[in-house]
Amino acid sequence: MDLRDGIRTTGAVRGFTEQTVDDSTLYEILDDARFAPSGGNRQPWRVAVVQDLTLRRNLADAMQTVWDEYVAVSQTGRTPFTVVDAAPYELVSVKPGNVPNDLLDKIESVPVVLAISANLGSIAMMDKDLARPTITGGASIYPFCWSIILAARSRGLGGVITTFASRVEPITGDLLGLAKNDALAATIFLGHPIKQLSKLKRSAVETFTTLNRFDGPSFPSEPNNDRP
Ligand SMILES: Cc1cc2nc3c(=O)[nH]c(=O)nc-3n(C[C@H](O)[C@H](O)[C@H](O)COP(=O)(O)O)c2cc1C
Repeated sequence: MDLRDGIRTTGAVRGFTEQTVDDSTLYEILDDARFAPSGGNRQPWRVAVVQDLTLRRNLADAMQTVWDEYVAVSQTGRTPFTVVDAAPYELVSVKPGNVPNDLLDKIESVPVVLAISANLGSIAMMDKDLARPTITGGASIYPFCWSIILAARSRGLGGVITTFASRVEPITGDLLGLAKNDALAATIFLGHPIKQLSKLKRSAVETFTTLNRFDGPSFPSEPNNDRP
């Protein structure tokens, strides 16, 4: 598949057929993804291929609490877990299992479940001393995660990066044997898509790009109305 097409059409896949993914294919996917960039080329990633069904169920049960909370907060119109103007969560009524989540409900039958951790000791966290939560560290691990998705797509597979396991890292990290000084960055689900959505809803360049400064004039100055 053409690189440009891949970038523009790789949507999140959360529903998989029963077709399995063999270890050699998964190895090849990881072998492609390892070429992802990272700060100082320190490659802070570790991957756990989670095959044990009891472990998967325990992880899903922990993630379920996060999903329930995510849904409950979303229903109030706020962005869940934002650090900006975060309202106390005690105000939100959480109804367990309110909205089904196929990834968690059917985690035992997802062809591939990967836990991705990042070694914090290998990441130069450029914004660590600012008076706001850090963001730059993630840039050394999420390109790797995205490369896994793209490498899977190039083989006719689909998948999704998820982060709900990170919110309950004290539980999920214990379950996964997360190393000291490592952070659980993502849980990635892969398989043969029941449906590969390729027409993605994304905002136009004009809505997020300005000239010189973030408060500068729009870029481009003449909006391009030809694009879909
Ligand atoms: C950093 C990151 C975290 C995400 N976390 C979750 C998650 O916890 N659960 C989930 O179902 N999807 C998760 N997603 C998938 C996004 O919901 C998805 O990429 C987005 O909604 C766009 O969907 P689309 O490609 O189908 O348009 C995550 C994606 C990223 C990049």
